[in-house]
Amino acid sequence: MTATPKPAAVAAAQSSAGDAAPARHIPFHRPSIGQAERDAVMEVLDSRWLTTGQRTVAFEEAVKNRLGCGHAVAVNSATAALHLILEALGIKAGDEVVVPTYTFAACGETVRYLGARPRLADVDPVTFNATAATIEAQLRPETKAIMVVHFGGLMADMDPILELARSRNLPVIEDAAHALPCSRDGREAGTVGTAGALSFYATKTVTTGEGGMLLTDSPEIANRARSMRLHGLTRDAWKRYSGGGSWYYEIEDVGFKYNLTDVAAAIGLVQLDRAEAMRVERERVARRYDRAFAASAIADLVELPAAAGPNEVHAWHLYPIRLHLDRVAVTRAEAIDRLAEAGVGTSVHFIPLHLHPYYRRTYGYAPADLPVANLQFEREISLPIYPDLSDDEVDYVVDRLATILKPQ
Ligand SMILES: Cc1ncc(COP(=O)(O)O)c(C=O)c1O
Repeated sequence: MTATPKPAAVAAAQSSAGDAAPARHIPFHRPSIGQAERDAVMEVLDSRWLTTGQRTVAFEEAVKNRLGCGHAVAVNSATAALHLILEALGIKAGDEVVVPTYTFAACGETVRYLGARPRLADVDPVTFNATAATIEAQLRPETKAIMVVHFGGLMADMDPILELARSRNLPVIEDAAHALPCSRDGREAGTVGTAGALSFYATKTVTTGEGGMLLTDSPEIANRARSMRLHGLTRDAWKRYSGGGSWYYEIEDVGFKYNLTDVAAAIGLVQLDRAEAMRVERERVARRYDRAFAASAIADLVELPAAAGPNEVHAWHLYPIRLHLDRVAVTRAEAIDRLAEAGVGTSVHFIPLHLHPYYRRTYGYAPADLPVANLQFEREISLPIYPDLSDDEVDYVVDRLATILKPQ
């Protein structure tokens, strides 16, 4: 479900049974949790140290080593990580940050937390990612940073974006909430810009229920974030209460309560170890969908998601299909309802930010202002994709769609 609306996507499939129960129940998302995660949680509970402590430190080290970045700062969401990055960069009222419109609430709202303006950028029609060209069109004298989202786990085309940012002396923030593991030419999503944010939300590719991680090579950003994630204090509880710690701390600034618990970090350590194996399973699901659609009667009614290039690793967080609305006899909403009746949970990624009441009211956006995003949103349906989705379940989803999507 990722996002919009978070718990409702699963609920939709669950409540879809109505009076006559559907033949199958395939939720939009099912997290992959095994005995190792259960054992790791029990170990933390038995240790009696529940909040930020040695597991969190170990999780930060593991992420840092896995992705090869200078610093990893654990927090309780990607939203918190984005906020801390923007805060550490000194974004303030009167500034602007370019943000892709095709994203979740977190990207725009964190800019607003600091009183700055998110300036929304359109996206590429194939990948759903912002490009150097769509970003450049939104640069203003007030622009102080560029935010990029690696939509669905496919990396944005970073080199031209970094080049543009360098030419304007702007930092680049990578929202890598969908993108673990995800890379291009060996460079990991979240580590190629000035700073990046990972999400460990319940539906993400690596989950701790709720959680996030700030990635950066900048010691200034990392140090500021470490303090600001915990009330702006000079020392966290682990440093104060673990062996040899001191009770003393000082409040350096007005910070936030964004620290990650050791319970979550323990799950994260196990999930991180399993990240590539889980990704391979999601790739299997994606390939199965590709083949099943290609062999179906609806092959030319549906546009399939962009595949990864030869030097790319796709996280396959989402499998977003798009309907050729001019060729099918049902609406997108009807297709979603009929899938729910058949026991298949789906979601839509995303309702572009510029279509939401807040952005229309506050900045006067109209749908046609960012036409590519607008058009892709109207056609998009995210299908279930997770490691333990069987080939048989994938075939069922495509088979159901083939009966729902009648040609005009
Ligand atoms: C693109 C994107 N960015 C950020 C977030 C926020 O993640 P979190 O729930 O960890 O704050 C999400 C969550 O759905 C997302 O999809």
